[in-house]
Amino acid sequence: MAHQSDLIATDIEQYLKQHEHKSLLRFITCGSVDDGKSTLIGRLLYESKMLFEDQLAAMEADSKKWGTQGDEIDFALLVDGLAAEREQGITIDVAYRFFSTDKRKFIVADTPGHEQYTRNMVTGASTADAAILMVDARKGILTQTRRHSYLMSLLGIRHIVVAINKMDLVGYSEKTFRTIVEEYSQFAEQLGLKQITYIPMSAFKGDNIITHGDNMPWYHGTTLMGYLETVEVDDTRMQKAPFRLPVQWVNRPNLDFRGFSGTVASGIIKPGDRIRVQPSGKESHVARIVVHGGDLPQAVAGQSVTLTLTDEIDISRGDVISTAEEPAQTADQFETTLVWMHEDAMLAGRPYLLKIGTKTVTATITDIKYQVNVNTLEHTAAKKLELNAIGVCNISLDRAIAFDDYQHNKDTGGFILIDRLSNTTVAAGMLHFALRRSQNIHFQHVDVDKEARALAKGQKPAVLWFTGLSGAGKSTIANLVEKKLHAQGRHTYLLDGDNVRHGLNKDLGFTDADRVENIRRVAEVSKLMVDAGLIVLTAFISPFRSERRMARELLAEGEFIEVHVDTPLAVAEERDVKGLYKKARRGELKNFTGIDSAYEQPENPEIRLDTTALSAEAAADEIIAALKHRGIILD
Ligand code: ADX
Repeated sequence: MAHQSDLIATDIEQYLKQHEHKSLLRFITCGSVDDGKSTLIGRLLYESKMLFEDQLAAMEADSKKWGTQGDEIDFALLVDGLAAEREQGITIDVAYRFFSTDKRKFIVADTPGHEQYTRNMVTGASTADAAILMVDARKGILTQTRRHSYLMSLLGIRHIVVAINKMDLVGYSEKTFRTIVEEYSQFAEQLGLKQITYIPMSAFKGDNIITHGDNMPWYHGTTLMGYLETVEVDDTRMQKAPFRLPVQWVNRPNLDFRGFSGTVASGIIKPGDRIRVQPSGKESHVARIVVHGGDLPQAVAGQSVTLTLTDEIDISRGDVISTAEEPAQTADQFETTLVWMHEDAMLAGRPYLLKIGTKTVTATITDIKYQVNVNTLEHTAAKKLELNAIGVCNISLDRAIAFDDYQHNKDTGGFILIDRLSNTTVAAGMLHFALRRSQNIHFQHVDVDKEARALAKGQKPAVLWFTGLSGAGKSTIANLVEKKLHAQGRHTYLLDGDNVRHGLNKDLGFTDADRVENIRRVAEVSKLMVDAGLIVLTAFISPFRSERRMARELLAEGEFIEVHVDTPLAVAEERDVKGLYKKARRGELKNFTGIDSAYEQPENPEIRLDTTALSAEAAADEIIAALKHRGIILD
């Protein structure tokens, strides 16, 4: 069983060839260090004579270099999305080790098991075919066992071995083994975990690892290695699922050839098969399956291919080519599970980038339905998700995507969220189902549009978005500008922070999450008012770049005019018109902007007003002039 071939020395080419044809099993070990994880991995490596021993503490760029070694094993271990995340700056503490036997190659991901490492586990487990859950026979099922089991079910790991270890320390007692099996089975049923194999073992002594040994004659099941060598790998299973090819790029070397390249996520495809391109819904047939060196009679899950079609249809990167018989679904609103992976908490209402397969769209979390307590599985209400928190959330996208639910297809149902400003991965997620409301609500066409409404008023609609610290002078200047516009007969509306917070937004306070929601609503209301043909003035601190950008993107080019009322903190604090800075300094007012809550300066505002050099009157005149210059007000 142990594997170290003489071929390594005599005929390396032949040796590597043998390896190419072996299947690859990816698995994860979980349980705390004390449960014997390291001993177990050590033993597996030792018994297999460690073809390559690898110990990568953090799987960063190195592993890629490593993966290009001779035998073409794909060491880009993680799903596209999670692999991208490493490039985007999260250091994930997952150690990957590689070993092989005569029958199979293995990659084992070893992750620390504490609660604060949930994100590491999710990363390590995201592509695992199987999981070994270590249980100390003396201790039985612990909170940690439950937590890890929940994560396994969440990530859709189909094959689970409950390795009841340290049997030597309980006198190889069959009764102890049975009790743990009984207890775990009940729990697993709650989680809907199905294919569970229980193996009593001693990683330390070697019982039931490679061979059975003599200590547990009452156990007739498989050894751990026997299990690992035969359990079905996901690639094989995915070949039976409906065909999906997320298009990575459109291959157009010359005018006579147009192919669509990518890695087959699931299923099988042959020339002549009818396909549907999603989300557009257009259909065609496969003409050829092209790979380097010729055409293939068929392509299966895991292969990288280029398809050509019998019709000229529009396909771009990020589209999914599905079998026409069983296509993916398409939608733009979903229920999902999110695992938050960043120190900065998730904020509902903030736009993030969502990357699914080869497609990237903009997503907002519209509702946190509940957070899951990973230890007790209880559901609790939540307004935001912190690092390592797991929540069931509704999300809304700016465009429809093709998808499958995650439990059926990890590639077309798994995604990551990326912060748009820092470009770091902030969450991993799983799509559950499309929200039906998105299918039943369509845009209603109206005949009188914003141009028509605005023209009637001799103006172009726009938003003057005033931003700056409390006491900077936003309301004062905005008020003056509105007066001047009104005097000219323009049709305006001023949305002011203090006023809106007495009505529409009276349910909101000053946490980051509430400020995000405050600005989201104001941005949406401004958009409606712009649609009504108005010149809208908003005076809100609006401290975060992300939400100001969101407001900008809701509007058409040229309609959003960011006005930075640039007053240094010291000056605003010195003025302290409302006495709030003093309160904040005394600690009586929490989360006060500039004191203990951030203000992110605008980078490229259309207008910047230095209030230490300008009177409010002069500032207002400057804005009126800018509005003329931009053609917002027509003479
Ligand atoms: S924002 O951050 O969400 O844009 P907004 O402009 O609506 O804030 O409200 C700011 C006004 O609320 C301030 O001008 C001040 O009068 C008042 N206020 C009360 N508490 C705070 C606080 N903690 N931070 C900032 N402003 C506060």
